[in-house]
Amino acid sequence: MPATIGTAPGKIILYGEHSVVYGRHAVAVPVSKVRAKASIFPRPDLKPDEIKISAPDIQLDCQLSGLPLEHPFAKIFELAKENLNLDHFPAFDLHIKSSIPVAAGMGSGASVSIAILKALSSFLGKPFSSEELSRLSFEVEKIYHGNPSGIDNTVVAYNQPIFYKRGAPLQLLRVHTPLMFVIADSGIKSSTFDMVEKVSKARTDAIPQFESFFDRMDWIAIEARKAIEGNPSEDMGSLLTQNHRLLQQIGVSCPELDSLVDAALKSGADGAKLCGAGGGGNMIALVNPNSAGPVSQALQEAGAANIIVTTIQEND
Ligand code: PMV
Repeated sequence: MPATIGTAPGKIILYGEHSVVYGRHAVAVPVSKVRAKASIFPRPDLKPDEIKISAPDIQLDCQLSGLPLEHPFAKIFELAKENLNLDHFPAFDLHIKSSIPVAAGMGSGASVSIAILKALSSFLGKPFSSEELSRLSFEVEKIYHGNPSGIDNTVVAYNQPIFYKRGAPLQLLRVHTPLMFVIADSGIKSSTFDMVEKVSKARTDAIPQFESFFDRMDWIAIEARKAIEGNPSEDMGSLLTQNHRLLQQIGVSCPELDSLVDAALKSGADGAKLCGAGGGGNMIALVNPNSAGPVSQALQEAGAANIIVTTIQEND
């Protein structure tokens, strides 16, 4: 029997990480060049609920029944069972592969969850809608992030650029002119859970100051949305760099990310910032076809562990 496959893209947050946790707007886009893929191979020779999971990228090779209930993969199966009204799963092997760097601000957790949910629901003949994929993977994000805003699961499930506010109806973004980014990995692994908690603790001691940083980030995301949709009153590159300066002020950058941002700006990027939770992971630089090469080279020379050049457009 052929495999049933579910895939999902990576993502980057262009504007508004962290402030989005506190109810401000943010802009995120899918990145299709990196993907998670879940493949289901039916095992009619085995009894129901005998499910073997292999995910070599995270050195996991086990039976589903051997995972603790609070493991993200166990949670995904529990949610799928409940929402597909199943008593038992037919037996199968699940292979998970991903080219999305882990713990690096590119949505690897949400993407793997959604790839598995897509494969499971297709295999069982009841494919989940984008809304269901987003809602269910949000439950898994709580395990990864502690207090997720919901931006990662939303952008990955809908696979479209989004203008996002926690608890507000989804707004898809119309990208007026394709946007070219260089994404550079600092090579440092960082936990989103820890970074979100770090901001929360720092905010407790300086609420008015943090609220004003978040308000400024909100303004940046709102202005960026206008620019992305073709009605700019502010420069998109400058908004990116301003957002980075604010992320530095709330304590989520690190020397390696700062030096990558400086290298990008010095070599001709229109703007640059860390992306995702910070403390390591990736940064992004807004470029054009002429500056993409020199900026990529400068980032490599400044120590980037990996470089991706991507163009963002609607239905990327
Ligand atoms: O998963 P990451 O590292 O891209 O970070 C998510 C963005 C945060 O705003 C830091 C957290 C959240 O849930 O929105």
